[in-house]
Amino acid sequence: MEPTEADLMDPVAEVHADDLEIAHFLRWGRDLHHQGRYEDAAKAYELILGLDRDNEEARIGRNRAVRRAVPRWHWEMLHDEERAELYDRAIRQAVAADPDALVLDIGAGSGLLAMMAARAGARRVVACEGQPAVAETASRVVRVAGYDDAVSVVPKMSTRMTVPEDLPRRAGLLVTEIVDCGLLGEGILGTIAHAREHLLAPDATIMPARGRIIAQLVESEPLHRKNHVGKLYGFDLAQFNRLSTLEYFDSRLHRHEHRALSDPLTVFDFDFYTADATPRSTELRVRPTAAGRLHAIAFWFEMELLPGITIGNAPGHDSHWKQAIQCLPVPVLVQPGEEVVLDAAHDGECVRFTVRTGSEPGPDRDAREAAR
Ligand SMILES: C[S@@+](CC[C@H](N)C(=O)[O-])C[C@H]1O[C@@H](n2cnc3c(N)ncnc32)[C@H](O)[C@@H]1O
Repeated sequence: MEPTEADLMDPVAEVHADDLEIAHFLRWGRDLHHQGRYEDAAKAYELILGLDRDNEEARIGRNRAVRRAVPRWHWEMLHDEERAELYDRAIRQAVAADPDALVLDIGAGSGLLAMMAARAGARRVVACEGQPAVAETASRVVRVAGYDDAVSVVPKMSTRMTVPEDLPRRAGLLVTEIVDCGLLGEGILGTIAHAREHLLAPDATIMPARGRIIAQLVESEPLHRKNHVGKLYGFDLAQFNRLSTLEYFDSRLHRHEHRALSDPLTVFDFDFYTADATPRSTELRVRPTAAGRLHAIAFWFEMELLPGITIGNAPGHDSHWKQAIQCLPVPVLVQPGEEVVLDAAHDGECVRFTVRTGSEPGPDRDAREAAR
C-alpha cells in the first residue's frame, strides 16, 4: 500500500516501514529525474525495486531515467549488420595474428566487440564502458553469452583507467567503435591518444587504424528546412532560427531530394597510431560541378579497421550512422567556374565548416555569428 501525503505527515499513521521507505525513494527518484540527474534517479528506483521488485512506478521511473542516459541509437547500431561483419572480420584477423595479446575494448556498449574477440580466440579481453547502466548490462550480456571467463567489463571511462588496477598490463590489441556520423563526435581522437600513452603496449595493434572525413557540397531545400524556417502560415518565424543547430546533425542524404554541387573531397585524414585531439583547420578550394544553391555540407567517414578492411557511412549506405549534415544559415549561389573556399576546422570532437566564395576574406567565425 502506498502512503498518502497525509500519512507521511502524520507520525502515528499505521503505515508499514517499507511503504514509507518506498514512498521516500519514489519522491527522491522523481526529484533527481527533474534535476536531470538521471543516473542517480535510476539508482533510487533500483533501491525501490530491491524492496518491491514489482513496483510499477519504480519500473517505469527507472526506465524513463535510463532512457535519458542511454541513447536510443544502440539498438539500430547493433542491427547494423555491415558494421558487425566488418568488425568481426577485422577482429578475427587481429586475434589470429596474436591470440595471447591482451585485448582492450574501449566503449563496450553491449559487449559485442569484446565477445567477438573472445569468440575469435582471444584469451583475455577487458572491455570498459563509461555509462554505468550500459556497463552493468554489458556484464550481464557477457555472462549470459558464456564469455565471462575471457571478458571482464570495467564500468569506467577509459581515460580514468590505470594499469594494473583496471587492466592487468598494457594491452596488445585495441578495438573500439566510438564514432558518430561525423567520426569525431564521441571523442575518438583524445580517447585513443590517451590509450596509446597509458593503456597500450608500444607495439599494440589499434583498430581502427585510420579515419578519413569526406565532404560534399549539396543543394537540398528539404535538408535545409530541417534546420531553418521563414514565413509560414502568415507569420514570420525566422527569429526561431536563433535556435538552429550550428554544427552538424545526422540525416540520410539519399532520403532527401538533393543535388551534389561538387565531387566528394577529403577534409581530414587521421592516423590513429599518431593522431591526437589538438584542434586543426584546413582550407579547401572547391570547384562546383554544377550551378545551384548551396544549402549544406554533407560529410561522412571511411575508417580503415585493419589494412584492407574499411567501414564507413558514405551516402547510399544504409549504415545506422547516416551522414553528417551541416546546413548553411543562408544558402549560397555557386557556379561551376567560381571557386568556393571551404574552411574546415575541428576542435578534437566536432568538425565544422565555413563557406566563402573565392572573393570573400578569411573567416572570423565569431564576428560572423555575432552579426547574424
Ligand atoms: C558507439 S557505442 C559502441 C558499443 C560497442 N562497442 C559496439 O560496437 O557495439 C560506444 C560506447 O562507448 C561508450 N564510450 C565512449 N567513450 C568511452 C570511453 N572513453 N571509455 C569508456 N566508454 C566509452 C559509450 O558510452 C557507448 O556505450
